[in-house]
Amino acid sequence: MQIDILTLFPQVFPTFISSGILQRAIDRELITVNITNIRDYTHDKHHTVDDSPYGGGAGMVLKPEPIFEAVEAIKPDPADRHKVGEFPVILLTPQGRLFSQQIAQELSVYKHLVLICGHYEGVDERVRQHLATDEISIGDYVLIGGELAAMVVVEAVARLIPGVLGSAASPIDDSHANGLLEYPQYTRPQSYRDWDVPEVLLSGNHGEIARWRREQAIIRTWKRRPDLLDKANLNPAEKQFIKRLETEQAEPT
Ligand code: ADE
Repeated sequence: MQIDILTLFPQVFPTFISSGILQRAIDRELITVNITNIRDYTHDKHHTVDDSPYGGGAGMVLKPEPIFEAVEAIKPDPADRHKVGEFPVILLTPQGRLFSQQIAQELSVYKHLVLICGHYEGVDERVRQHLATDEISIGDYVLIGGELAAMVVVEAVARLIPGVLGSAASPIDDSHANGLLEYPQYTRPQSYRDWDVPEVLLSGNHGEIARWRREQAIIRTWKRRPDLLDKANLNPAEKQFIKRLETEQAEPT
């Protein structure tokens, strides 16, 4: 996958990209990440990227021309057969659709993603209307710019690309991947400060272990994120199990 990030702050990305798993994915040519400075596509002496809003008001708005030109200058990897116009151009903005594991999965099938980091008070509306094909927010809060949001999207998407995590099975049990939070994980030592690893995990009985993990994932989701249970893929016995949890909770102890 080719990922192009358009930003006014290109200096914030190199350390992020050269962290363990992403760098390995780049070395193995599973992903390429190109950082473009939007300012390089200005033509005036002062390299102006923003201007005051028409109609008045506080703050500055990112001008459309450098952003359009920066996107139009992106060259898809010639090894890929996709054409310009066939890949998502995503504007990171608090007004976008709320990012989720499902959206990460949706994006992970593309050969090419373009991420535009917004800044200041906003981006000229014509970028949304005529350039961006998607808008993503990473949460209901406002950041100074879209750079952290772009990193979140890159990391969540990249780890879903086959081969990036090493073991193909690893993302399957992720929290959110199946609509549930992940079950508890343990490693050595078997006993630490008198806190023991649950017996079942030492049993070697893979059926029992899988059952226990599924049950723990359901209990954890029910306790922490009951809102997720409505959409989770549960069988009738599991739905019954949740009813039992609810009744037990309602009963005085
Ligand atoms: N830019 C500023 N705030 C943001 C958010 N919450 N998500 C994505 N991009 C942003």
